[in-house]
Amino acid sequence: MAADTDDQGNDDSGASRELRSFGRRRGRVLSARQQALWDVDLPRVALDLAANAPSPLTRLFAPAAVSEVWLEIGFGGGEHLVWQAADNPKVGLIGCEPFEDGVVKVLTAIEEQRLANIRLHADDARDVLRWLPEGSIDRAFVLFPDPWPKRKHLKRRLVAEPLLAQLARVIRPGGQLRLGTDIADYARTMLMAMQHTPAFRWTAAGPDDWRIRPTDWPETRYEAKAVREGRTSSYLLFERV
Ligand SMILES: C[S@@+](CC[C@H](N)C(=O)[O-])C[C@H]1O[C@@H](n2cnc3c(N)ncnc32)[C@H](O)[C@@H]1O
Repeated sequence: MAADTDDQGNDDSGASRELRSFGRRRGRVLSARQQALWDVDLPRVALDLAANAPSPLTRLFAPAAVSEVWLEIGFGGGEHLVWQAADNPKVGLIGCEPFEDGVVKVLTAIEEQRLANIRLHADDARDVLRWLPEGSIDRAFVLFPDPWPKRKHLKRRLVAEPLLAQLARVIRPGGQLRLGTDIADYARTMLMAMQHTPAFRWTAAGPDDWRIRPTDWPETRYEAKAVREGRTSSYLLFERV
Protein backbone atom coordinates (compact mmCIF):
# COMPACT_ATOMS: atom_id res chain seq x y z
CA MET A 1 0.00 0.00 0.00
CA ALA A 2 1.78 3.14 1.17
CA ALA A 3 5.05 3.75 -0.61
CA ASP A 4 7.93 4.51 1.72
CA THR A 5 9.17 8.04 1.35
CA ASP A 6 12.38 9.61 2.54
CA ASP A 7 12.56 13.02 4.22
CA GLN A 8 12.56 14.73 0.81
CA GLY A 9 9.24 13.09 -0.03
CA ASN A 10 10.87 10.90 -2.64
CA ASP A 11 9.16 7.65 -3.41
CA ASP A 12 11.59 4.93 -2.46
CA SER A 13 9.62 2.10 -4.04
CA GLY A 14 10.30 2.88 -7.71
CA ALA A 15 13.58 2.37 -9.47
CA SER A 16 13.37 5.85 -10.94
CA ARG A 17 12.91 7.61 -7.53
CA GLU A 18 10.25 10.02 -8.73
CA LEU A 19 9.42 13.03 -6.61
CA ARG A 20 6.23 12.67 -4.63
CA SER A 21 3.42 14.54 -6.42
CA PHE A 22 0.66 14.18 -3.81
CA GLY A 23 0.04 15.56 -0.32
CA ARG A 24 -1.42 13.66 2.60
CA ARG A 25 -2.58 10.06 2.21
CA ARG A 26 -4.83 9.94 5.28
CA GLY A 27 -7.58 12.17 6.66
CA ARG A 28 -9.88 11.14 9.47
CA VAL A 29 -9.64 7.72 11.10
CA LEU A 30 -11.82 5.33 9.11
CA SER A 31 -15.13 4.23 10.64
CA ALA A 32 -15.66 0.49 11.13
CA ARG A 33 -17.72 0.36 7.91
CA GLN A 34 -15.07 2.25 5.97
CA GLN A 35 -12.33 0.01 7.38
CA ALA A 36 -14.32 -3.03 6.21
CA LEU A 37 -14.58 -1.53 2.73
CA TRP A 38 -10.82 -1.01 2.75
CA ASP A 39 -10.01 -4.49 4.05
CA VAL A 40 -12.58 -6.54 2.16
CA ASP A 41 -13.81 -4.61 -0.88
CA LEU A 42 -10.61 -2.93 -1.99
CA PRO A 43 -8.72 -6.21 -2.63
CA ARG A 44 -11.61 -7.32 -4.88
CA VAL A 45 -11.18 -4.36 -7.22
CA ALA A 46 -7.51 -3.50 -6.73
CA LEU A 47 -5.09 -3.97 -9.61
CA ASP A 48 -2.50 -6.67 -9.07
CA LEU A 49 0.63 -5.01 -10.34
CA ALA A 50 2.73 -8.06 -9.41
CA ALA A 51 1.02 -10.00 -12.21
CA ASN A 52 1.23 -9.14 -15.89
CA ALA A 53 -1.60 -6.99 -17.21
CA PRO A 54 -4.23 -9.17 -18.90
CA SER A 55 -4.43 -9.16 -22.65
CA PRO A 56 -6.63 -7.62 -23.83
CA LEU A 57 -6.82 -5.21 -20.90
CA THR A 58 -10.65 -5.25 -21.05
CA ARG A 59 -10.41 -8.69 -19.32
CA LEU A 60 -9.59 -6.86 -16.10
CA PHE A 61 -13.28 -6.09 -15.80
CA ALA A 62 -14.75 -9.58 -16.27
CA PRO A 63 -17.51 -10.59 -15.71
CA ALA A 64 -18.59 -7.06 -16.76
CA ALA A 65 -18.24 -6.90 -20.55
CA VAL A 66 -16.45 -3.72 -21.50
CA SER A 67 -15.10 -2.64 -24.86
CA GLU A 68 -12.84 0.24 -23.77
CA VAL A 69 -10.62 1.07 -20.81
CA TRP A 70 -10.31 4.61 -19.44
CA LEU A 71 -7.82 5.77 -16.79
CA GLU A 72 -8.27 8.52 -14.21
CA ILE A 73 -5.18 9.75 -12.37
CA GLY A 74 -5.76 11.46 -9.01
CA PHE A 75 -9.53 11.02 -8.75
CA GLY A 76 -9.73 12.79 -5.37
CA GLY A 77 -13.25 12.22 -3.99
CA GLY A 78 -14.14 10.13 -7.06
CA GLU A 79 -17.03 12.30 -8.33
CA HIS A 80 -15.86 12.18 -11.94
CA LEU A 81 -14.74 8.52 -11.86
CA VAL A 82 -18.05 7.28 -10.44
CA TRP A 83 -20.10 9.48 -12.79
CA GLN A 84 -18.24 8.16 -15.85
CA ALA A 85 -18.56 4.55 -14.67
CA ALA A 86 -22.31 4.90 -14.14
CA ASP A 87 -22.81 6.76 -17.42
CA ASN A 88 -20.66 4.34 -19.47
CA PRO A 89 -21.37 0.76 -18.36
CA LYS A 90 -19.52 -0.64 -21.40
CA VAL A 91 -16.33 1.18 -20.41
CA GLY A 92 -13.96 -0.13 -17.75
CA LEU A 93 -12.46 2.59 -15.57
CA ILE A 94 -9.16 2.37 -13.73
CA GLY A 95 -8.85 4.97 -10.98
CA CYS A 96 -5.61 5.82 -9.19
CA GLU A 97 -5.51 7.80 -5.95
CA PRO A 98 -3.23 7.57 -2.90
CA PHE A 99 -5.65 9.51 -0.62
CA GLU A 100 -7.42 6.92 1.52
CA ASP A 101 -10.65 8.90 2.08
CA GLY A 102 -11.15 9.27 -1.67
CA VAL A 103 -10.62 5.56 -2.25
CA VAL A 104 -13.17 4.74 0.46
CA LYS A 105 -15.69 7.12 -1.16
CA VAL A 106 -15.36 5.26 -4.44
CA LEU A 107 -15.64 1.87 -2.70
CA THR A 108 -18.86 3.12 -1.09
CA ALA A 109 -20.24 4.19 -4.48
CA ILE A 110 -19.24 0.85 -6.06
CA GLU A 111 -21.22 -0.95 -3.37
CA GLU A 112 -24.24 1.38 -3.31
CA GLN A 113 -24.56 1.72 -7.08
CA ARG A 114 -23.43 -1.85 -7.84
CA LEU A 115 -20.80 -0.65 -10.28
CA ALA A 116 -18.90 -3.54 -11.88
CA ASN A 117 -16.69 -1.46 -14.14
CA ILE A 118 -14.23 0.22 -11.74
CA ARG A 119 -10.77 -1.03 -10.76
CA LEU A 120 -8.54 0.86 -8.35
CA HIS A 121 -4.93 1.48 -7.48
CA ALA A 122 -4.78 3.14 -4.06
CA ASP A 123 -1.35 4.60 -4.71
CA ASP A 124 0.81 6.43 -7.24
CA ALA A 125 -0.59 6.32 -10.78
CA ARG A 126 2.91 6.19 -12.20
CA ASP A 127 3.16 2.55 -10.98
CA VAL A 128 0.12 1.77 -13.12
CA LEU A 129 1.46 3.62 -16.14
CA ARG A 130 4.60 1.47 -16.04
CA TRP A 131 2.47 -1.69 -15.77
CA LEU A 132 -0.02 -0.91 -18.55
CA PRO A 133 0.65 -2.36 -22.00
CA GLU A 134 1.34 0.01 -24.88
CA GLY A 135 -1.81 1.37 -26.52
CA SER A 136 -4.15 -0.28 -23.99
CA ILE A 137 -6.00 2.85 -22.82
CA ASP A 138 -8.71 4.57 -24.84
CA ARG A 139 -9.04 7.71 -22.73
CA ALA A 140 -7.20 9.20 -19.77
CA PHE A 141 -8.02 12.02 -17.34
CA VAL A 142 -5.83 14.11 -15.06
CA LEU A 143 -8.27 16.60 -13.54
CA PHE A 144 -7.05 19.40 -11.31
CA PRO A 145 -3.70 17.89 -10.35
CA ASP A 146 -2.15 19.32 -7.17
CA PRO A 147 -1.00 22.86 -8.08
CA TRP A 148 2.17 22.89 -5.92
CA PRO A 149 2.21 26.72 -6.03
CA LYS A 150 5.49 27.33 -4.19
CA ARG A 151 8.43 27.83 -6.51
CA LYS A 152 10.55 25.23 -4.72
CA HIS A 153 7.76 22.67 -5.23
CA LEU A 154 7.09 23.27 -8.94
CA LYS A 155 9.04 20.14 -9.88
CA ARG A 156 6.46 18.05 -8.00
CA ARG A 157 3.75 18.97 -10.50
CA LEU A 158 2.52 15.75 -12.00
CA VAL A 159 1.67 16.94 -15.49
CA ALA A 160 5.04 17.42 -17.11
CA GLU A 161 6.94 15.80 -19.94
CA PRO A 162 7.81 12.49 -18.16
CA LEU A 163 4.14 11.80 -17.36
CA LEU A 164 3.03 12.82 -20.86
CA ALA A 165 5.58 10.43 -22.35
CA GLN A 166 4.14 7.60 -20.22
CA LEU A 167 0.60 8.57 -21.23
CA ALA A 168 1.62 8.69 -24.90
CA ARG A 169 2.85 5.10 -24.55
CA VAL A 170 -0.31 3.69 -22.99
CA ILE A 171 -3.02 5.64 -24.85
CA ARG A 172 -3.84 4.13 -28.24
CA PRO A 173 -3.60 6.26 -31.40
CA GLY A 174 -6.95 8.02 -31.78
CA GLY A 175 -7.49 7.90 -28.01
CA GLN A 176 -8.00 10.97 -25.86
CA LEU A 177 -6.33 12.73 -22.95
CA ARG A 178 -8.22 15.27 -20.82
CA LEU A 179 -6.42 17.68 -18.53
CA GLY A 180 -8.10 20.22 -16.25
CA THR A 181 -6.68 22.92 -14.04
CA ASP A 182 -7.83 26.10 -12.30
CA ILE A 183 -4.28 27.48 -12.18
CA ALA A 184 -3.50 29.62 -15.25
CA ASP A 185 0.23 29.09 -14.88
CA TYR A 186 -0.25 25.30 -14.70
CA ALA A 187 -2.41 25.39 -17.88
CA ARG A 188 0.43 27.21 -19.63
CA THR A 189 3.06 24.71 -18.50
CA MET A 190 0.77 21.83 -19.52
CA LEU A 191 0.50 23.30 -23.01
CA MET A 192 4.23 23.95 -23.18
CA ALA A 193 4.99 20.37 -22.15
CA MET A 194 2.57 19.23 -24.86
CA GLN A 195 4.59 21.14 -27.45
CA HIS A 196 7.44 18.75 -26.63
CA THR A 197 5.13 15.74 -26.88
CA PRO A 198 4.20 15.43 -30.57
CA ALA A 199 2.23 12.25 -29.83
CA PHE A 200 -0.62 14.50 -28.65
CA ARG A 201 -2.60 17.09 -30.64
CA TRP A 202 -4.59 19.79 -28.82
CA THR A 203 -8.06 19.60 -30.37
CA ALA A 204 -9.28 23.10 -29.38
CA ALA A 205 -10.54 25.14 -32.33
CA GLY A 206 -11.48 28.24 -30.31
CA PRO A 207 -11.50 29.66 -26.76
CA ASP A 208 -14.85 28.10 -25.83
CA ASP A 209 -13.21 24.70 -26.30
CA TRP A 210 -10.98 25.24 -23.30
CA ARG A 211 -13.11 27.68 -21.30
CA ILE A 212 -16.34 25.66 -21.23
CA ARG A 213 -16.43 22.28 -19.50
CA PRO A 214 -17.69 19.56 -21.89
CA THR A 215 -21.12 18.17 -20.96
CA ASP A 216 -19.64 14.70 -20.39
CA TRP A 217 -17.18 16.05 -17.80
CA PRO A 218 -18.96 16.48 -14.45
CA GLU A 219 -17.75 19.05 -11.97
CA THR A 220 -15.37 17.65 -9.37
CA ARG A 221 -15.16 18.63 -5.74
CA TYR A 222 -11.89 20.43 -6.31
CA GLU A 223 -13.29 22.40 -9.25
CA ALA A 224 -16.36 23.40 -7.19
CA LYS A 225 -13.98 24.84 -4.59
CA ALA A 226 -12.09 26.74 -7.30
CA VAL A 227 -15.38 28.22 -8.55
CA ARG A 228 -16.33 29.29 -5.00
CA GLU A 229 -12.96 30.97 -4.65
CA GLY A 230 -13.39 32.83 -7.96
CA ARG A 231 -10.92 30.92 -10.13
CA THR A 232 -11.75 29.92 -13.70
CA SER A 233 -10.64 26.62 -15.14
CA SER A 234 -9.14 25.34 -18.36
CA TYR A 235 -10.41 22.12 -19.94
CA LEU A 236 -7.74 20.79 -22.27
CA LEU A 237 -8.54 17.93 -24.64
CA PHE A 238 -5.86 16.18 -26.69
CA GLU A 239 -5.95 13.46 -29.29
CA ARG A 240 -3.28 10.75 -29.32
CA VAL A 241 -2.11 10.97 -32.94
C1 LIG B 1 -6.09 18.71 -6.24
S1 LIG B 1 -6.63 17.07 -6.09
C2 LIG B 1 -7.92 16.95 -7.31
C3 LIG B 1 -8.75 15.72 -7.15
C4 LIG B 1 -9.84 15.49 -8.20
N1 LIG B 1 -9.27 15.18 -9.50
C5 LIG B 1 -10.77 16.68 -8.29
O1 LIG B 1 -10.75 17.36 -9.33
O2 LIG B 1 -11.51 16.92 -7.32
C6 LIG B 1 -5.32 16.16 -6.85
C7 LIG B 1 -5.35 14.70 -6.50
O3 LIG B 1 -4.33 14.02 -7.20
C8 LIG B 1 -3.81 13.02 -6.37
N2 LIG B 1 -2.47 12.67 -6.87
C9 LIG B 1 -1.36 13.43 -6.85
N3 LIG B 1 -0.31 12.77 -7.36
C10 LIG B 1 -0.77 11.54 -7.74
C11 LIG B 1 -0.18 10.40 -8.34
N4 LIG B 1 1.14 10.38 -8.63
N5 LIG B 1 -0.95 9.33 -8.58
C12 LIG B 1 -2.27 9.35 -8.28
N6 LIG B 1 -2.89 10.40 -7.72
C13 LIG B 1 -2.16 11.48 -7.45
C14 LIG B 1 -3.81 13.65 -4.99
O4 LIG B 1 -3.77 12.70 -3.93
C15 LIG B 1 -5.11 14.44 -5.02
O5 LIG B 1 -6.19 13.71 -4.51
